[in-house]
Amino acid sequence: MLTNMKVLLSREQIAEGVARIGKQITQDFAGETVTLVGVLKGACLFLSDLARQIELDATFDFIAVRSYGTKKESAGEVQLIKDVTTPLEDKNVILVEDILDTGYTYTFLKKLLMARKPRTLKFATLLDKPSRRLLPVEADYVGFKIPDEFVVGYGLDYAERFRNLPDICVFAEDAEK
Ligand code: IMP
Ligand code: MG
Repeated sequence: MLTNMKVLLSREQIAEGVARIGKQITQDFAGETVTLVGVLKGACLFLSDLARQIELDATFDFIAVRSYGTKKESAGEVQLIKDVTTPLEDKNVILVEDILDTGYTYTFLKKLLMARKPRTLKFATLLDKPSRRLLPVEADYVGFKIPDEFVVGYGLDYAERFRNLPDICVFAEDAEK
């Protein structure tokens, strides 16, 4: 790959975290069906792997948001750019995110999804940066708590790049070779 960025979480560690969350969801919703709602684009790799670790009847949907700000910082203003295409009423909805940072995105999406009257709404995030939180948000399923570093790979981007790195790396401006 075209980078020598430092690996924070290897593909093997990621796979273990994803399997752990899949197992928890399988237990928590035993005998029920779940609707996974992935937040584009960052969560699409996580959703793809997580779905295969959930041994339940499951459906997928996707939602996309844009948050204004710089390449690394959210400005706290979130806009919907693509809605789900299936009704969520009375469904067990699990919102699937790549990373929980300030909490603005989840706060926005929770309000939007709750208005659809799901039976339950849970939040699964692969990564959590608790030290960055500006709104009081906690996820129901967390893969890894990480320090305040900007990370890329496994769906996470810097200016749309590096989503296809198989490991999660600490972004470094000068790491391309
Ligand atoms: P929040 O709204 O601040 O909680 O941020 C959530 C969104 O910010 C995520 O869905 C990511 O798109 C982006 N984000 C936050 N931290 C990182 C990071 O370290 N790398 C890449 N994207 C990030
Ligand atoms: Mg994202």
